[in-house]
Amino acid sequence: MMVKAVLDTAFVRAQFAPLADGWVFVENAGGTYVPRQVVDRVQEYMSQTQVQPNWGFASSERATERIRHGKQLMAEFINAEPDEIVFGPSTTMNVYLLAQAIRPWLKQGDEIIVTEQDHEANVGAWRRLAEFGVVIKEWQVDRATGALRYEMLDELLSDKTRLVAFTHCSNVCSIVHDAAALVRKIHDAGALAFIDGTAYAPHFSVDVKALDVDFYVCSLYKFCGPHQSILYGKRDLLRKAANQNHHFITDDNISYKLLPGGPNHEFAAGAVGVADYYDALHDHHFKTRENNFHARLTKVYGLIAAHEERLAARLTAYLNTVPGIQIIGRVPSSDGRLAPVIGFRVAGRSSAEIVRELNKRQIAIGHGDFWAARVIKAMGMTAEEGVIRIGFAHYNDDADADRLIAALKEVL
Ligand SMILES: Cc1ncc(COP(=O)(O)O)c(C=O)c1O
Repeated sequence: MMVKAVLDTAFVRAQFAPLADGWVFVENAGGTYVPRQVVDRVQEYMSQTQVQPNWGFASSERATERIRHGKQLMAEFINAEPDEIVFGPSTTMNVYLLAQAIRPWLKQGDEIIVTEQDHEANVGAWRRLAEFGVVIKEWQVDRATGALRYEMLDELLSDKTRLVAFTHCSNVCSIVHDAAALVRKIHDAGALAFIDGTAYAPHFSVDVKALDVDFYVCSLYKFCGPHQSILYGKRDLLRKAANQNHHFITDDNISYKLLPGGPNHEFAAGAVGVADYYDALHDHHFKTRENNFHARLTKVYGLIAAHEERLAARLTAYLNTVPGIQIIGRVPSSDGRLAPVIGFRVAGRSSAEIVRELNKRQIAIGHGDFWAARVIKAMGMTAEEGVIRIGFAHYNDDADADRLIAALKEVL
């Protein structure tokens, strides 16, 4: 076993078969590749255990155990208890289901605050509640930078505010919000806090208990997992949420009542592979092994964040030399951290054309609004052109950054 102060990207990359395809993959903010550990767990489930769980025969018992194990580890991933999380097909679906499940708590004139910066997943489902008389207030961004106007939250909070839905980190502006401080402010106003951690969780360790947040959601496929999402809620709140499933599902059956039809079993079992993968990183880099998965993960994320920050710094140092470039967001909040995701556009140049040229050079990258449509519009851009987004994952290495910068030098 080795002790390493920095992330061993050669070891990391060896876990991901698709990285050998010759491309520089930097559309990770859209979704990462999965490591072999996840593929193995999904394959193991499908080849050995593809039966309905919860029966008394052997293969069904194995299925039950693998799904339970995936859930337990994903709960530990965000420092929650297994009965406080729900698997769902996507963050969009999880937010929608929760919004419907807490609708009976709200009366005409109650207020919900949504942001202009969020991915639409954490906006549209809440806005739909306006049909039931809920007043939706928008927490806006600065038109020049896309940063949330923090002072505006004080103006928006009122004794009618029931919930504030905001993102832990913007998927285009890369700004990590000081979520614990915002949750405190929201609680002081007597409201609930709902956080979308989808753009945060790939880069930093999530601790829902430390945040004291009421609800938290994130998508596993952004941090090397299968296409699934986990929704966390404080236990007493989830218990009170209204059943969205068959009438005979009981209120204390949190997983089933909030997910009509139940979870995707092979991907719930595949979530064990996510933990296998991060543990493999842990054991490769650290000598001592804590019993607690969350503690091991937090150490791994320390390496990941330092590595990604260095790659982002290399890239932004180059981009800042490009005439006419506008880098979007990246105005640190009081939290101080930024995700290694860099959105930019170049005056007088088409983002679509730049991306086409980069794709020809085997740089896997995209452009547009990335479904954070409101902030892109607020900053005067169209969805069609939008921003070019470079989203690093921890498996990107210096050779990727070299090739990316060389290609950008040819195209910009
Ligand atoms: C911040 C953020 N929230 C939500 C989503 C949507 O997640 P899902 O595809 O799981 O609905 C995304 C996807 O890009 C995202 O970046």
